[in-house]
Amino acid sequence: MTKEEKYEAMKQIRDEVLHLTASPLYAYRTEHKYLPVIGEGSHDASIMFIGEAPGRNEAQTGRPFCGAAGKILDDLLACIDIKREDVYIGNIVKDRPPENRDPLPGEIEIYGPFLDRQIEIIEPKVIVTLGRFSMQYVMRKFDLEFELEPISKAHGKSYDAHAPYGPIHIIPQYHPAAAIYNRELLDTIKADFEVISKFV
Ligand code: URA
Repeated sequence: MTKEEKYEAMKQIRDEVLHLTASPLYAYRTEHKYLPVIGEGSHDASIMFIGEAPGRNEAQTGRPFCGAAGKILDDLLACIDIKREDVYIGNIVKDRPPENRDPLPGEIEIYGPFLDRQIEIIEPKVIVTLGRFSMQYVMRKFDLEFELEPISKAHGKSYDAHAPYGPIHIIPQYHPAAAIYNRELLDTIKADFEVISKFV
């Protein structure tokens, strides 16, 4: 795809999500004057980071990972010398679930195909999943269900898979929000992020 085609394809996704009245989260979004969070970064990124769903800050601004978890993600990226604008950052679920609850299976089902299309547009060589929902979704998508382990075992490992456009590495990470009040976990995530730098 050319740059223009990628831009148009992403815009199409944004427009569809904006009018996704079939989503169980649509009414909550409009009631609170929230925005859907489609994702941001380079459409040519070789690395995609995929979180779970927007929190309040994200839904207010329309930008992924711009609150407390985003601050941690920014620090983690800086530690491995990756610029935020060089990667693509998004979520499976594009609208904020009430009270930051976990996304429900029906929500993952309705928003998942938009993430699939984003992956087809960007064609990343590495997908870093943030948190267990994202890990489960992406590993199942790339036929790695048989390798699925709890995030406590899978974090920081790299799994080889095949995308229609070529080989891809999937690197599950703990969700950065889990480290907000847990210094020890932050050290673990920092060490796990070093794995990503091998593929840059
Ligand atoms: N947590 C997520 O999973 N995604 C965001 O965009 C922000 C917080």
